[in-house]
Formats: sequence, C-alpha cells, structure tokens
Amino acid sequence: MVTDGIFKSMTDPTRRRILQVLLQNELGVSELVNVLDAPQSTVSRHLKTLREAGLVDARQNGTSATYFPILSQNGNGKDRGDHDLRDRVLDWSASQELPFSLKSRLEEVLRSRQTDSDAFFSQVAHRWDAMRTDCFGGSFHLDALTALLPSSWTVVDVGCGTGYLLPLLSRRFANVVAVDPVDEMLDVSRARLKKESADHVTFRKGSASKLPIDDDGCDLCIASLVLHHEAVPPDALEEFHRILKPGGQVLIIEQEAHKLEDFHEMMQDRWWGFDRDELAGHLATAGFDDCKTHELHSVVPAKASTIDAPGLFALTGCKS
Ligand SMILES: C[S@@+](CC[C@H](N)C(=O)[O-])C[C@H]1O[C@@H](n2cnc3c(N)ncnc32)[C@H](O)[C@@H]1O
Repeated sequence: MVTDGIFKSMTDPTRRRILQVLLQNELGVSELVNVLDAPQSTVSRHLKTLREAGLVDARQNGTSATYFPILSQNGNGKDRGDHDLRDRVLDWSASQELPFSLKSRLEEVLRSRQTDSDAFFSQVAHRWDAMRTDCFGGSFHLDALTALLPSSWTVVDVGCGTGYLLPLLSRRFANVVAVDPVDEMLDVSRARLKKESADHVTFRKGSASKLPIDDDGCDLCIASLVLHHEAVPPDALEEFHRILKPGGQVLIIEQEAHKLEDFHEMMQDRWWGFDRDELAGHLATAGFDDCKTHELHSVVPAKASTIDAPGLFALTGCKS
C-alpha cells in the first residue's frame, strides 16, 4: 500500500530531511550526499523508499538522475487516492525549518553548480558563437521573437520571393498569404514549404500596388526588400493600408539610399534604396500612425562579397 509507504517514509529522520531538502531544490544523489553529509549507500537506500512511497521521483539527465518531490500538480503520483496524504506530508515537510548546517551545504552545492558552468563557459567563450550556431542554427532567436506576437494573426508577405520568411511565419501564425508577381518565385516558395504542414499558407499572384487581398483582410503586412522594385511605392503603401485591419501593423524592410552602381545593376532594382525619413513620411501620408524607422544590424555578418551592398532599415506603422 502506498499509504503505508508514506507513513513508513516519515518515521525516519534522514528521509524527512531528504524530503525537506528536495522541496527546496531538485538534486542528484552525489549532491544530496554532500548536503546531508551522509554515505551514498544510505542516501540511495532512503531515496528508494521515498520513491516506492510515491513521495519522490527522478528524472534522468544524461547518465545521472536528479530527484524531486511529487507534487499533486505533477500528476504522476501512483494513486490519486493518496494525493491528499502526500500533499499533507509535503506541506508539513515544507513548513519545517531546514537546519542551518544543511541550508549552508545546500547553498554550497548550488554555488558549485554555477562554478562548474562558469568554468565551462570561461573555456569556450572564444568559440561559443560557432558552437551555438553548429548546435542550434543561426536563427532560432527570430523564431522565439515571433512568439511575442499573437498566433491568431493573418499575415501577408508581399513580394515573398523564394519564401525565405515563410517557414518562420507559417510556424507561428494562423494564416499566411504569400504574394508575388513572378510565377517562378511562387513555385520556389511553394516548394520551400512542401516539407512543412502548411495548409494555412496560401500563394497568390499579385503586386504590391494591387494586392489580391480583401479590405481589412490581415493583421500584419510585411514587404521585405520589395518596395525598391515597385513602380510607385506610395501607391503600394496605400494598398498596405487598405488590406490591414484597424490596429494592424506594417513592417517594411528596405535598402538605405545608396549610389552603388554594381549592386543596383546586379539586382535590377528600380529605386536606389530610400531615404528613411522620406519613406516614413509616405507611410504617414498613406494613413499610418506611429511610423518609425529602425536601423538593422545583421547578427551574422554578410559573407565577404566582391560587391558592396547598401545598409538596410525597417519601417513600421500602425493602422488606427
Ligand atoms: C529581393 S526579392 C525579396 C524576396 C523576399 N521578400 C525576401 O525578403 O527575401 C523581391 C521580390 O519582390 C517581387 N516583386 C517585384 N516587384 C514587385 C511588386 N511590385 N510587388 C510585389 N512584389 C514584387 C519579386 O518578384 C521578388 O520575388
């Protein structure tokens, strides 16, 4: 009976201490050995009893395990009928003052965890960026930042091109509409999303100044590296205003005004980038509020190229 196990567990002072300590922090066996100042065999034996009583569980961390008390909300007790008793035992344990000696040894154990971590990072500081990118890629932080935005949004990616933004957008938002005037670009975009389950992404042929989107049809309109191809950029800004719901936001990414002939030629651009403030003025004229420009710095520097490229900026605004 689990109930008997709970009563039996609480008859032993070391087990009571273990429970008290684990209520403060999840710990491994060797850490508990240090905190309790008891032999490992003793600690392991008591942990076994506590686990059998359903008071404590362990989670595997690689080759070692850490132990934690089973609180009701963990929902992994052996028998729901014993929750009341277990909760009362744990409440009582939590209410008991931890002796000073244990408290200070516990603090020492936790400090040494941090020291181990600090020692590791002091060794890898000069190569951490490479390790980070090797292990996790270079853009997960962008994914994380989009988590700050409501997932219920409908997002329009104007001039989606090859769909570079689409994996990020499709993973986060309820509806994504990718628009581009060039069939080949739309084909590449579709192919890019083939591996993802992306029924909520639709592809439409169209241009920035005549978007195939209803009035008030979206929450966020993105135009990344597109406006400098558009024949009449202010018309496109009015169109962005039309398709946004009240409260919707526009995000434009553009080239700074430049005189880089090789670049302009290579990209077949119509406009030589934009003066930020002038473009922000056009955005306000199109009806947007709170128009702001933001300098963009590349987190990962662009590869050294034989052609100089202009700097980029972002322009944001809100439809009131
Ligand atoms: C430089 S690519 C940018 C693609 C993508 N937005 C990105 O950030 O990688 C420009 C894209 O805009 C499209 N485009 C050109 N003129 C456009 C217009 N007037 N309206 C909408 N898209 C346009 C092009 O077909 C191309 O796919």
